[in-house]
This record gives sequence, C-alpha cells and structure tokens, in this order.
Amino acid sequence: MCGIIGYIGKQKAAPILIEGLKRLEYRGYDSAGLALSEPSGLFVCKKTGRVEKLAQSMMGRSSGSTRGISHTRWATHGGVSDENAHPHLSSDGTFALTHNGVIENFGSIKKFLLSKGYTFQSQTDSEVLVNLIAYHYAKEPKDGDHNPFLEAVRRALFHVEGTYGIAVMCRDFPDQLVGARKGSPLILGVGKEEFLLASDVAALITHTQNVVYLKDNEIVSITPDSFHIANGTRENVSPIIDHIDWKIEDSEMGSYAHFMEKEIFEQPAALENSMRGRFSDDNSTANFGGLNLSAQELRQVDRILFCGCGTAWHACLIAEYLIERYARIPVEVEYASEFRYRNAPLDKNTLVFVISQSGETIDTLAALREAKRKGYRTMAIVNTVGSTIARESDGGIYQHIGPEIGVASTKAFTSQLLVSAMIALYLGRLRDMSFTDGRDFTEALKSLPELVSKTLELAPKIKKIASEYKDHADFLFLGRQSLFPIALEGALKLKEISYIHAEGYPAAEMKHGPIALISEDCPSVFLAPQDDMFHKVLGNMQEVKARGGKIIAIGSEEAEFPEDLPDHLLRIPECHPAVLPILATIPLQLLSYYIALEKGCDVDKPRNLAKSVTVE
Ligand code: G6P
Repeated sequence: MCGIIGYIGKQKAAPILIEGLKRLEYRGYDSAGLALSEPSGLFVCKKTGRVEKLAQSMMGRSSGSTRGISHTRWATHGGVSDENAHPHLSSDGTFALTHNGVIENFGSIKKFLLSKGYTFQSQTDSEVLVNLIAYHYAKEPKDGDHNPFLEAVRRALFHVEGTYGIAVMCRDFPDQLVGARKGSPLILGVGKEEFLLASDVAALITHTQNVVYLKDNEIVSITPDSFHIANGTRENVSPIIDHIDWKIEDSEMGSYAHFMEKEIFEQPAALENSMRGRFSDDNSTANFGGLNLSAQELRQVDRILFCGCGTAWHACLIAEYLIERYARIPVEVEYASEFRYRNAPLDKNTLVFVISQSGETIDTLAALREAKRKGYRTMAIVNTVGSTIARESDGGIYQHIGPEIGVASTKAFTSQLLVSAMIALYLGRLRDMSFTDGRDFTEALKSLPELVSKTLELAPKIKKIASEYKDHADFLFLGRQSLFPIALEGALKLKEISYIHAEGYPAAEMKHGPIALISEDCPSVFLAPQDDMFHKVLGNMQEVKARGGKIIAIGSEEAEFPEDLPDHLLRIPECHPAVLPILATIPLQLLSYYIALEKGCDVDKPRNLAKSVTVE
C-alpha cells in the first residue's frame, strides 16, 4: 500500500529509484513519481498510471543527481491524478516528501497552514504534512550545531495523528535525506557508499542485503557517508543491521509470464522451505524455534484465537479445522479488522495467533497490539522477516518462502496452511495424538512438495476449462468441512484477478439461498475428493445438476462419480486429510489465473487492490 524508495550515494539516483519502484509496484499502482536534488533545486516528476509511464517521461531527461526519493501510490485521500501523486512539494518549494499512511488530523492542520499563507495543489493529507514541515523549518534557527531540516521534520511529526512512513528532501540540505515511521513500514538499506530508504526489502535487494528495520517513532537522517537514528525523544538509537537472505532471483519473474504464475508453480519448493528443519522424527512431531512457549505452557492453553485479513483469514479458518481436529483445542477465528474494535472476552489461557504474509497489514497489526494490551500471549505466522508483526508478537513462525510479489496470494496461502498443520501436529503431540498418528501426519506433510508437483500437472486441462468459462459473470465455489474455507479462497482468487462475481459456500448451505443463482450461466466449482463428506457432496452436486447448473469438480484419484455428473473433473492425488486443503487449493489458483489471462486482465496488479494494506 504505497511504496517508497529513496537513494543517496554515488550513483545516478533516477534509474535506481525507477527500478526500485518497479519492484514495489505491487504495493500500489495508481500513480508514481520521483524527486531529485539538482543544482537548480528540487526537481519533481509524477504521473498517474504505472511506473513505466514515469520511466518514459524521464527518458529524455538525463539527471546526474545522486540523491532522490520516489513513490508508487495506492490512493486514499484524493483521487488518482497527477496532482495527488507523490512526491509533494511544500508550497515554498523547500521540501519534497513521499508518504505512506494516513494523516488523520490533516483537516485541522490544513486550516492552520492556510491561515499562515501556505497553498495546496492536491487533495492529499501528505501535502499537508510537507507544508507543516516547511512551516516548522521557517521557524528553526539556521545556525549552531543542530540540524534545522531534521528538527523541522521531528517537530511536524509531533503534531501528526495517524500513520506514516516518510522520506523527505530539503532544497537547502542537498546531501541529506530524512526518513521516519509510525504505523507504516520503513527500512534503511545500508550499502557500500550508498544508503536507501524503502517500504520493503524487495526494493533494496539489488543494492544491499544489509538493512535496519526502523521502529515506530524513529527518525533516520542519512548523508552519503553515514546515517543516524534517533527515537521520538531525541535519544540516539544503536542500529541493529540485519542481513536478508533473499536472492535477487526471488524477486524476479524469470521465464514466467507473471509473478502469480511463478508463485503458483514454485509452491513445491516454497512448501519445502517452510518445513525444512522443522520435524523431529524421533518424536513424530514438528519443531519451532520461535514459539517462545514451553511445552508445559502450551499444554495449559485452552483456547486459541486466530486473526488475519483476506487470504490470511481463510488460512485462519483452516487452522481452526486442523487444530480442533488434531489437537482438540477450541479455536475461534476473527477478522482482524473486527477483533480490534470488539471487546471480546478472552480467558487468560487463550493464545492469540495472527497470520500475515507481509507482516504489515494494519488491521492485523492492530489486532495483535490489542491482544497484547489485554495481556494475552501472541504468536504470528509471517513471511516477511523483520516486519512489524514479526517484531511485535511474543513469538512466531516464519514461512520462509521468499518474497510474494503477485497481488493475489498463492504460495503464501498454501505455506500458511502447511504451518497451521504443523502447529496442529505439534500441539496434538503435546496432548493426546499418538506416536503413530504423529508419524503418519509428519510423513503426509513431507510428501507435500511431490503431491503439489503432481497436482500442478493439471494446468493444461484447467487452461482449457478456463477458455470455456471465461465469459461467465457468476461462479459458485462449494466445499464442506476443511474445504469450505478453500471454496472461499477459490471465490476470492477469481474475484480478485478476473473481476468475476464469485461466492464460496459450504456445499450443503447452498440450498438455503445461493441455489436461486443456479442456471446454465452460473457454474459451480465443487471440492469433492474422496473423504468422509464425499457422498454428501455428491448429493449437493445432484441438486445443482437438476437445475441445469454446470459443474467443475475437484475430485481425488479414487473418487467415483456417477457418469455425467460433473461436466469437468479434475483429479488431485489421494492424501492425508491434513494436507487435502493445500492440494485442493492448487486447481483453484490455476483456474482463476487462466480465466484472468483469457480475459486479458492484469494478473499481477488487479484493479483497486494492493498487496500490503497499511491503512485501515
Ligand atoms: C491484501 C491482499 C490480500 C492479502 C491481505 C492480507 O488485501 O490483497 O491478498 O491476503 O491483504 O495480507 P497479509 O500480508 O496480512 O497476509
């Protein structure tokens, strides 16, 4: 949700900023812009549309500037226009700012600044902040040891309510960038004779793998030779430099047409990475280094609450099925955005888990903080190392699947399901799961990469189905028990990337309303592997068939369907029930991907969406 990248060093800034923006574009793609520090002052170029449009506008302009800031926007305050694009200049032209987040009290600050003669070109809250910085700068003494640029940013932020990750330049201090964060991520990249500021590591990776994750209320001041971090009360902060082990290839598309395609097909390897080193064969269980709770403490947990947003919320629903079934601990699932404002009664033995690929989703972070405030132990399943949720939870499990760039989550989801299954195994083995059941469970998880590879072989068949069904305006996705959340996820994927209306339902619930939608024009995708529910699901399929509805069934190798019941049958391998939701997800990912391709949709950057939602 809005991506920032800033550069200061010895190389030309503009190409570095544009390359970084391209890597950050999944955070928002309404507009893009950059500001460079040039001998004549601050140069700004910004355009609605994709980063490529900005790159083309910059083509004819050769700037030798080695300092700059840039931004890719997901609109919040103010529509999508060149004026509302970042960077914003203060009305006196002294400052340029890029901002990710929302300034909640921008109205009162704007009124104050208007009374002081400041003018505004845009409808954004961010332009208010850059002018507030200019206002404080004008009042700062310009002599002595202190740095009036840094001080003006600090004073302005003191008056701000809301969230921000910012990068700021000042015309009078061409050799300095200032960054700050509260509620929105900002990372300092520490390179050789160069420094970068960015919203996430994907933008830095080609320059450096050494990063400092800024904390809320910290301000960093950077020159070409050094950086300095202070907290909100001006105390110096000793930086911890972390090393990121992502490779450049991880954030590149390689031979694939889209990141989504790449991420779907790299799931066998991603799942392998999520489980590597995490099994104890001697004890038939899983191992987690980061849970920070002893076996004894975990045995006392008598309820677990899971929170997340979007696809991660679907993963929470699967965690509920798995943990209740295999560890016999009651689990509840809440949308993070609901939980944060609900005063839900929780018992002191409740453990709160949040799931987030990015580790930055603001509602999930707020739910985590709310749970901590009330004194509950909090855990997180997160992919992005060093992200805010990873740092603020009491313990957790990293997914280790490398960056996920496609806006529609694929490999992160299946990895979240795998990690949830491993938690169910671990908790189950601490309670009453037998050694042999634990061994079967472990073996099933270990076989996943192979089973997923086999399931991916369905791709050509699914491509054909996609071309047949691309023009349908409505779809139903139906499944029972642990496949009901997968039906929700299948529907979400289709909606997200192909803009087709789709709904997920428990298959039996279909006759309580959605059945009214059934016709030749509204196909149903049934999740119908050979499991305890198979014959019940067949009954639900008959109900659809009787009303002329088309059926695409995801069955398993041994499932026997009455002739002509499904119009299309996709068979996934037979497997342990704990891994079934993962295998059943794969054909649905492929179906939505190929339908979106057939429709000519922008698969990796679907309209209106952003990968990481850092505003409420
Ligand atoms: C956005 C994305 C979804 C994602 C959700 C939660 O809405 O478009 O794909 O599932 O955020 O993201 P998180 O990073 O917390 O898993």
